[in-house]
Order: sequence, then structure tokens, then C-alpha cells
Amino acid sequence: MAGWNMLYFDEGRFQPDAGQNDAWNRGAYLAEGIAHCGACHTPRNSLGAEEKDRLYAGGEGEGWHAPALNGSSPAAVPWTEAALHDYLAQGYAEHHGVAAGPMRQVVRNLEQVDETDVSALATYVASLTGAPKDGAADAAIADARSKTYSILTAYQMDADGPAANGEAIFAGTCASCHMDGGTQPYVRPVDLALSSVVTGPDPRNLVHIIMDGVHPRPGERGAIMPGFGNVLDDGEVTRLANYVRDHFTDEPAWADVEKTVGDIRGEETAQ
Ligand code: HEC
Ligand code: HEC
Repeated sequence: MAGWNMLYFDEGRFQPDAGQNDAWNRGAYLAEGIAHCGACHTPRNSLGAEEKDRLYAGGEGEGWHAPALNGSSPAAVPWTEAALHDYLAQGYAEHHGVAAGPMRQVVRNLEQVDETDVSALATYVASLTGAPKDGAADAAIADARSKTYSILTAYQMDADGPAANGEAIFAGTCASCHMDGGTQPYVRPVDLALSSVVTGPDPRNLVHIIMDGVHPRPGERGAIMPGFGNVLDDGEVTRLANYVRDHFTDEPAWADVEKTVGDIRGEETAQ
């Protein structure tokens, strides 16, 4: 996608909502008209058109899943306006994690935009998600902590153990950075149970991250996660992704993980 300043948008077609304040209207105008948030976050029908009655119900872009931003958001800790502002301005929000994949480029584009516009986008997107329920965030954070803490048991387990075994792969490959007091004290990724990469309905983002890692630009917030695509074979990535989903969430298992892994491997080999 080229810089937004090169995109044409007819401001006259935007209908402000008189029931909302200026920031909300500015945010809606930016999201729908210029930043094209819905191009990825709104599902498309079989003809490829955005389904206007399912705005921001979750879609895709560049082979990644773009999570729902409306009431069906998979975020364990409900998004707030402040958290959305952090995420859009810095590519990272506490209790949510990092903007990876194509969302990283969106955040880069937003660096060119006025601070008040980023705030307006946060105001608008927060209204889509709806008001967080009291106590929901605290409960999710406590639950995520206990799931991260319980990796310690996995870490001590027998690599030939019963699940043969995504848990053993996690213990050997991921836990050093993703468990409490891991061996890398300066790296503190979000508890995986809080990341929409893990709680979302689609395994693609996790598979991309396992294979390619997370690579901020110099100067960008965030530490590097190496990719493991050359270390783990497709069966191992599949078992690992299934384990992460099972251990860190109470959501149903993902369908077709093995096929997803094969498809993503295929795309990468083709590049
Ligand atoms: C090119 C496709 C694309 C566009 C355009 C896009 N997004 Fe995203 N967005 C994604 C993907 C993919 C993710 C998941 C990234 C990840 O988990 O690291 C994401 C994640 C997010 C999240 C985090 C959701 C969660 O629960 O973790 C928010 C909030 C978000 N986008 C808001 C926006 C807004 C606001 C815009 C418009 C300014 C926008 N996005 C434009 C693809 C896109
Ligand atoms: C060398 C340390 C390291 C290792 C090993 C590692 N990671 Fe990461 N991981 C990170 C860092 C650093 C981030 C990004 C943190 C940030 O910027 O917030 C990250 C981010 C992630 C995310 C995205 C979380 C979010 O912010 O939404 C997932 C999912 C993830 N890692 C899973 C894994 C899995 C599965 C493994 C094992 C294959 C693994 N990681 C191995 C350091 C590591």
C-alpha cells in the first residue's frame, strides 16, 4: 500500500453522525476514508466486497488474520481508548502486545499523521468495541499470569511425555523468553494468553510469528523474536501452535492448523 497521502478520498461523501462528537467523526472519517482500516478488518463476501453490515467483524490482509475490532473482538483484556491509542501510536499496548505483520506498516503510516488524528482513531475504534465490563480486565490479567506461570511445570517435563509433544517444543524453544523469569531478563513480551494472536479464531498469525519471528526496526519499540521456520518442521509447528492455543486459552482448538502451516511454508518458499 502506498502512503496514504497518495490516496484520493472524496470528503464530501462522508456523512458525519450528529449524535457523536468531533473526535469520533474525525476518527470514523479517517478509518473509513483514508486509513482503510476496514480493508483488512471487515470481512468480504464471495465477490470480494466488504460486507457493510459486518463492519470490523474481522477479515484478512496479506495472508494474516485481521482480528475483529467490534463487539466480537477476541482480545482477552477489552480494548480501551487509551490502549488503542498506545497500539496505534507505538505498535504496542500493555496487556495486548505488539502490532506485527501488515499491522506494523499501518502503525508506520500513522507516524506521519497528526497526534490528534491518532487520538480520533482511538476514540472511534473504542466505540466499535464497546465499553469494557468492570473487572473483566483484572480477571483476564490474573488468569493470563497463572497460565504463564504454569509453563514452569511444562519446562520441567519429560520431552518424551504423553503429548509428544507441543508442550516439549514450547519448553525447549519458546519458554526461555515467554515464561516468568525466563533466561532473557530484558525481554518481557505480553503474557501469551492476552494476545489476540493466540485467542483469535484463526491460527495464521501465530504460525507466521513462529516461522518468521517479530522484527522491529531499529529505534522502534520492542525486542526481536527470532523466527523458527528453519528449526521446526511443519509437524512441529503444528503441534506447537495447537499446544499454545490449548494451554493459553479456553477457546476451541483451531481447525486446519496443519494445512495453514503448509500453506504459509509454501508462500515463503515461493518468495
Ligand atoms: C493491511 C491490513 C490492515 C490494515 C489496513 C489495518 N489493519 Fe489493523 N491489523 C491487521 C492485522 C493483520 C492485525 C493483527 C496483527 C498482530 O496480531 O500482530 C491487526 C491488528 C489490529 C489491532 C489489534 C487487535 C487485537 O485484538 O490485537 C487493532 C486495534 C487494529 N489492527 C486497528 C487498526 C486500525 C484502527 C486500522 C486503520 C488505521 C487498521 N488496523 C488497519 C491488519 C490491518
Ligand atoms: C529470544 C526470545 C524469544 C523466543 C525464544 C520466542 N519469543 Fe516470542 N516474542 C519475543 C519477543 C521479544 C516478542 C515481541 C515482544 C514485544 O515487542 O512486545 C515476541 C512475541 C511473540 C508473540 C506475539 C505476542 C504479542 O505481542 O501479541 C507470540 C504469539 C510469540 N512471541 C510466540 C512465541 C512462540 C510460540 C515461541 C516458540 C517458537 C517464541 N515466541 C519464542 C521473544 C521470543
